[in-house]
Amino acid sequence: MGLKERIRSKKVSVGIIGLGYVGLPLAVEFAKAGLKVIGFDVQKEKVDLVNKGDSYIDDVKASELREVVDSGKLKAITDEKFLGRVDAVCICVPTPLDKHGQPDISYVKASTKQVAKHLQKGQLVILESTTYPGTTREVILPILGKGGGKVGKDFYLAFSPERVDPGNKKYHTGNTPKVVGGVTPRCTELAAELYKTFNPKIHQVSSPDIAEMEKILENTFRIVNVSMINEIALLCDRLKIDVWEVIEAAATKPYGFMPFYPGPGIGGHCIPIDPFYLVWKARETGFYPRFIELAGEINNMMPHYIMTKVNYALNKVKKPLRGAKILVLGVAYKKDIRDYRESPALNVIKLLKHKGALVEYHDSYVPEFDDVHGTGLKMKSIPKLTKEKLAGADCVLITTDHSDYDWNMILDSAQLIVDTRNAIKDRKSKKVYRF
Ligand SMILES: NC(=O)c1ccc[n+]([C@@H]2O[C@H](COP(=O)([O-])OP(=O)(O)OC[C@H]3O[C@@H](n4cnc5c(N)ncnc54)[C@H](O)[C@@H]3O)[C@@H](O)[C@H]2O)c1
Repeated sequence: MGLKERIRSKKVSVGIIGLGYVGLPLAVEFAKAGLKVIGFDVQKEKVDLVNKGDSYIDDVKASELREVVDSGKLKAITDEKFLGRVDAVCICVPTPLDKHGQPDISYVKASTKQVAKHLQKGQLVILESTTYPGTTREVILPILGKGGGKVGKDFYLAFSPERVDPGNKKYHTGNTPKVVGGVTPRCTELAAELYKTFNPKIHQVSSPDIAEMEKILENTFRIVNVSMINEIALLCDRLKIDVWEVIEAAATKPYGFMPFYPGPGIGGHCIPIDPFYLVWKARETGFYPRFIELAGEINNMMPHYIMTKVNYALNKVKKPLRGAKILVLGVAYKKDIRDYRESPALNVIKLLKHKGALVEYHDSYVPEFDDVHGTGLKMKSIPKLTKEKLAGADCVLITTDHSDYDWNMILDSAQLIVDTRNAIKDRKSKKVYRF
């Protein structure tokens, strides 16, 4: 039986490299569809948690994870040798920027080398990590082809971007349409067949480059629009116009407008990073994508603006920022998730501390954090958000509007509030400062 037929009859095994925000939900979807899945991660703690059925990803329900682990459909390991025993491999490793803001594809290269070492005839390899256009053909293919195998004949290679939106209650890995672009038509066909086992909506494109580029287009669209609305928010602040009311009104237009909302800046492992993979690639051709650079500049200055807003609010009540007690609410980069990577709240905290403010934070999703690769901050959340804690702060700064916050209690108890998320709807209170 050929690979396509075996996929159709679900007689295939899949290896997932990297059991993070992308890899774990994907592994669970394949396992729920009845495929045998082996998850591979270099972090033993994650592997142990998966095998215990303990989910560390908000979007993966512990009950679902436990079910596929208990039924033997999903097993996690740290031993790369399994790569030679699966029919297909999905690579879901990080693609960060290095300290000079350049793409760091070292994780992708390292895991591809692992795959190459164990590559079997007829194996299908799919890259899911977001990266610049050309990576699959220019970086992955030569590594896999080193052993003399021919793509489309001896092994198959495709790119299929993950589109998971952490915290999204409606769309997840299992029901978000999947874009697939193979190096050859046969590669596309097989990769599409594999994803069809759990997702009926597959969009095939003519090459991996198209799939790589479309993913960065999605993320560029978001960074540009969020940064644009942040700039509008800064302008409205100067004009003393409530930007939130402006957006609400504009959003009544049934066509040609899509609301984006201001905030302390963009966070997470995708939107603030991926578009700069494209900027780097574009420079190779002597092209400078100005929209992305400008969006990045605006995004990067938002934490500084929030710090000055706190300073302004304290000044109104005749308090200096130095020595002021600031209670920050929410350090996750967006509501109802525990991911704090690239979170603007951390940059705001760093700036406030630098000015001599005494900063504490509360976040029930992030009881502690160690931002060793970013701001260098390491902090623990206050255990409980009480009226006393709120009243004791010179300023309460809302950076993430988690659904479990009691906004009425916060408004009633706090002395002064800077709200970057429009969480407090009361427009009459004189103690609330927003954009
Ligand atoms: N987080 C998101 O919302 C999201 C959404 C869409 C796309 N993406 C993209 O998906 C990719 C993965 O992102 P993520 O958020 O899942 O990252 P993550 O850090 O949550 O997970 C990556 C995992 O890969 C593991 N890993 C690293 N090198 C490895 C190796 N050589 N072998 C085995 N395991 C290895 C790490 O230990 C980690 O557990 C990135 O390219 C990202 O841009 C992320």
